[in-house]
Amino acid sequence: MTSSPSEAALLREATFDLLRGVNAYTRSPLMKGLAGVVSRHPEAEISVAFNHKQVACKMWARDAVFETLGGEIGSILILGGWYGVLAAMFFDDSRFDIDRIASVDIDGNVGAVAQTLNAAWIDRFSAITADMYALPYHDHKADLVVNTSCEHIADLRAWLDLLPKGTRVLLQSNDYFSEPTHISCVASLEAFREQALLSRVLYAGSLPQKKYTRFMLIGEV
Ligand SMILES: C[S@@+](CC[C@H](N)C(=O)[O-])C[C@H]1O[C@@H](n2cnc3c(N)ncnc32)[C@H](O)[C@@H]1O
Repeated sequence: MTSSPSEAALLREATFDLLRGVNAYTRSPLMKGLAGVVSRHPEAEISVAFNHKQVACKMWARDAVFETLGGEIGSILILGGWYGVLAAMFFDDSRFDIDRIASVDIDGNVGAVAQTLNAAWIDRFSAITADMYALPYHDHKADLVVNTSCEHIADLRAWLDLLPKGTRVLLQSNDYFSEPTHISCVASLEAFREQALLSRVLYAGSLPQKKYTRFMLIGEV
């Protein structure tokens, strides 16, 4: 069912009011950022990027990072970062001490949204529009490189080969083959390990969801 332009505007206003209320009640900079996105970027599909399944996958990533690497992370480089939800969730988590997060995406429409979502931490956050296959990784010197969009890129191993040897990485993929934008899904955690061929694996796990299973690896290239 599609809504008329005026209905869409009313719905957006109601969502904005609700998120402002949630922010007033929780005093959460992340909720304030979400309200800002709803108000300033009506075209952004933030309700998809911040739905309960996406949030669960990113909370799982945060917990696994904390358990395997601890909270003193330094700088994080996120590839295929979309609207910057994972960056905001890392900044919002008081267990972590993070110097900087750069969120890279090939889509020129998402960077401004990521900046709005991460407004509370803008001195430590940057959104970059670039192809992850064309970045000077040896200059970035990130302490942790994150790619939770592995199902969206054509050749995971070719991308990993661009990173300096020993780089710490967190990777997520899934077995959601029926989604047309998923060009590189894997059937199992074992298949994901074989696809990534990390030199050291510190964490490997699966998170079953209703329609698919998400896989995660933390280790070194
Ligand atoms: C749907 S989103 C994120 C999905 C993932 N499950 C997540 O929440 O992290 C996938 C993102 O990867 C980006 N992307 C795809 N190929 C890319 C590339 N070569 N370089 C940078 N970003 C890329 C897309 O533009 C998109 O924003």
